[in-house]
Amino acid sequence: MSEELAVVILAAGQGTRMKSSLPKVLHPLAGKPMLTYSLDLAAQLGTNLPVLVIGHEAEAVKTAAEGRARFVEQSPQLGTGHAVLQTAPVLEGHCQEVIVFHADMPLFRFETLHALIDHHRARRAALTVLTVEAGDPRGFGRIVRDDAARITGIVEERDATPAQLAIRELNTAMYVFDAGWLWAHLPHLPLSPKGEYYLTDLVTMAASEGKDVESLLCADPNEALGINTRVHLAEAEAILRKRINEKLMLAGVTIIDPVTTYIEAGVQIGADTLIYPNTHLQGHTVIGIGCTIGPNTIVRDSAIGNRCQIQASVVESATLEDDVDVGPFGHLRKGAYLCQGVHMGNFGEVKNSRLGPRTKMGHFSYLGDADIGADVNIGCGTITCNYDGSRKHKTIIGKGAFIGSDTMLRAPVTIGEGAITGAGSVVTRDVPDGAIVFGVPARIQTANQETSGESKQDNNS
Ligand code: UD1
Ligand code: CA
Repeated sequence: MSEELAVVILAAGQGTRMKSSLPKVLHPLAGKPMLTYSLDLAAQLGTNLPVLVIGHEAEAVKTAAEGRARFVEQSPQLGTGHAVLQTAPVLEGHCQEVIVFHADMPLFRFETLHALIDHHRARRAALTVLTVEAGDPRGFGRIVRDDAARITGIVEERDATPAQLAIRELNTAMYVFDAGWLWAHLPHLPLSPKGEYYLTDLVTMAASEGKDVESLLCADPNEALGINTRVHLAEAEAILRKRINEKLMLAGVTIIDPVTTYIEAGVQIGADTLIYPNTHLQGHTVIGIGCTIGPNTIVRDSAIGNRCQIQASVVESATLEDDVDVGPFGHLRKGAYLCQGVHMGNFGEVKNSRLGPRTKMGHFSYLGDADIGADVNIGCGTITCNYDGSRKHKTIIGKGAFIGSDTMLRAPVTIGEGAITGAGSVVTRDVPDGAIVFGVPARIQTANQETSGESKQDNNS
């Protein structure tokens, strides 16, 4: 199959400076593996799948990129030039241009990539390199130019003279090559003093042949942040965080303090939502319009409707319809589903349970494996005793029921519609619609029994 432009992403290196058992390119950045950013860039180009050069921890890297790349293994890893050479059996004769970048440089914008390709095509160059000017050279290769400002080579920091070390124009290691020229020259790269084949030496080869070596300066130095250590990882995280927050703010989200607001790349938030500091929004989370989230809140993999309020709480794999309020100090766990207008006050925990519209659960309660109707009042301290030591059981509460403070619901159990449980009841048997039960174990109150006066007392307000 023929293709105009092929994409090669280098990811075979070990990343020793990370001091990690996890391959460098799989370290998470704003909630996604570093490698994902390179794959996203390639996908935006709309070409055939990129060719990913893998080597160190090849299987793990391959799994992370499955379906999004073609794979070429480089073993042993003899340098960046040697890495690109491994793609020749797949690409040689099948494309006119090759764009190469490194998987440890996740901050490039698509616009930059595009500008580099346009520049290369306009000049009909043998190769075009993206450069950057930065005060801190961070170990990057230096761009060496002659008196006429033509690029004559790229020298690696370890091989540079003191005069070359002072150069502040750096190699971002994103290049576009004329494919014919690339395949003709790659096999002839010299061995570097480090014992590797440097891709950068192609620049020297092209220049000495009198070929046109072009460059484009990357306007935003932040894009050219390469990650070699965990210090760099944290720097990249901060830049991404700023980008994500700014995009959201420009789309109508108020973020009181962007520096302490941690929103991952996959999160969506509606306009006029207000986010207080120390809020972490993670995974596949969608938040509607007009919500107030935080401070001190974590929302992960959850769907939050419109006009919800979540304060100082942890929400994981849960769904909130519109106008729900949670917290402070609420914990929604997997499968919690709060219908419109639910109120969940402080120190509540809900797991795998549905709370019907307008149901209120004000204080200190645990609801697990429960199906609760509309307009139910869950009194302070109510607990579904859903676990018998080996299995989980279900609690069903009909609409309009009133569960008195400190009721223990020993599952499986069903409370009928409009039923009432007295404060301190331990309910071990089903309660019919409209019935009143109280005591330990709870019994149905008959017509001639006096209401204790405490039976319907509750502190929900
Ligand atoms: C490289 C460039 C340097 C540039 C810098 C920008 C060379 C010789 N140097 O240096 O000019 O300023 O990137 O970040 O190219 N890799 C392989 N196989 C190998 C070696 C490396 O696939 O045999 C991959 C790595 O996984 C990584 C990338 O190539 O994604 C760069 O390797 P690294 O060792 O980090 O190069 P730098 O020293 O950063
Ligand atoms: Ca690097």
